[in-house]
Amino acid sequence: MMSDQMNRRTFLGRAAVGSAALTVGANSTARAASANDKIVVGVVGMSRGRRVAQTFANTDGFSIKYVCDADTERAEAGAEALGEITGQAPQIEHDFRRILDDPDVDAMVFALPVHWHAPAAILACQAGKHVYVEKPCAHNPAEGEMLVAAARANNRCVQMGNQRRSSLVIRAAMEKLHDGIIGRCYFARSWYAATRGSIGRGQEAPVPDHLDYDLWQGPAPRRPYRDNVIHYNWHWLWHWGAGELGNNGVHVLDLCRWGMDVDYPTRVGAAGGRYRFDDDQETPDTHVVTYDFQDGKTITWEGLSCNQPGAGGNNFGATFYGENGSLSVGSANYLVRDMEGEIMERDAGNVGDDEHAVNFRDAIRQDNPELLHSEIAGGYKSTLLSLLGNIAYRTGQSVQCGEQGRIMDNPEAQALWQREYEPGWAPKV
Ligand SMILES: NC(=O)c1ccc[n+]([C@@H]2O[C@H](COP(=O)([O-])OP(=O)(O)OC[C@H]3O[C@@H](n4cnc5c(N)ncnc54)[C@H](O)[C@@H]3O)[C@@H](O)[C@H]2O)c1
Repeated sequence: MMSDQMNRRTFLGRAAVGSAALTVGANSTARAASANDKIVVGVVGMSRGRRVAQTFANTDGFSIKYVCDADTERAEAGAEALGEITGQAPQIEHDFRRILDDPDVDAMVFALPVHWHAPAAILACQAGKHVYVEKPCAHNPAEGEMLVAAARANNRCVQMGNQRRSSLVIRAAMEKLHDGIIGRCYFARSWYAATRGSIGRGQEAPVPDHLDYDLWQGPAPRRPYRDNVIHYNWHWLWHWGAGELGNNGVHVLDLCRWGMDVDYPTRVGAAGGRYRFDDDQETPDTHVVTYDFQDGKTITWEGLSCNQPGAGGNNFGATFYGENGSLSVGSANYLVRDMEGEIMERDAGNVGDDEHAVNFRDAIRQDNPELLHSEIAGGYKSTLLSLLGNIAYRTGQSVQCGEQGRIMDNPEAQALWQREYEPGWAPKV
């Protein structure tokens, strides 16, 4: 254990919550859940996490013991909403590290600002918990690799929240692709569009009484509180977020990676900018990224955060192009065309939230991470695509990648492979 870490139990026993660094205690649980056992869960982050908690609560085999948020208003609202579904409100815990100390808890859900995902998930693995972590699973590639290592070292089931991996209709589309319905597939074009507004020009302001800003910042180096960042707008600032590419791009890039059966790119290029509004947003609202892979395969992504999707009318999707036709996937549907453009097949379903929870449950019950539809090694690879697209954008250079997607011969881009952490909060594996 590194010198800048102190024992989590020691800390939690004596310190005021919200003032301490990331720390790791002994592996507190490794309880294998039998088919009849409830999997006891703590859910952290009560916005997206509130939805995930409701899905888990409606899934046979889970019991939500805790909800947690650095914002007490959100924690209380989340607990109340869950109580209405289950008939019994979960306990509210302010600091998720206390939940890690509860040996009854089998699994954690993290739906947090991106800078928290990998550090929190690593701590949970080290405390013996299985983890459902929202996408993207990491703020930078180095901590993504650490998360995969932590999952392995502790033999935990770690699922990323790219739920379309469990969507029946998307799975059927991928099977058709892999079975050769459009022949050899060499290109996938993907996109996301939304009509987001401006985040304006913020200013320093007092921290609201209901927010523990120190805990919210956690592993990120400290910055003064500003009035246009929390909640949600952190997505658009590199210090905490990963832009639209890490937000919605990662969902569809994951489908492209899956459909094309590729892992790491050889070259990544990017264009675009913050074109639509002149405000505090650092990440691009118009972002075009290209990924080349070995064996003659290319993926592109177009992100339009502040505009309409265009002629197709579909704000989320990917089209795979093969020798004999194309296959398009939307958020929860697909459509196959032959080379004349005639529709050969189509189907629609749902995005897979429920099925993703069931898959997580079943992998835990069988104590087998290999059963996960989005096991973290794969989740990280798709996250890495989004992070590399951001690195190419931020440096204004194409990046060449080698083994495990590592950036080659480019010190400026390589410097973004990792981040600085608030002293004492760096994740360690
Ligand atoms: N899979 C999906 O379809 C999907 C959908 C929406 C969001 N997401 C992902 O979920 C994540 C969260 O997104 P969001 O829209 O909920 O963001 P948000 O900013 O609205 O909510 C994040 C919440 O986490 C809380 N938080 C921050 N630090 C905390 C800490 N240390 N302990 C406890 N709570 C803490 C915040 O107070 C806030 O309530 C993002 O990574 C996003 O990409 C996934």
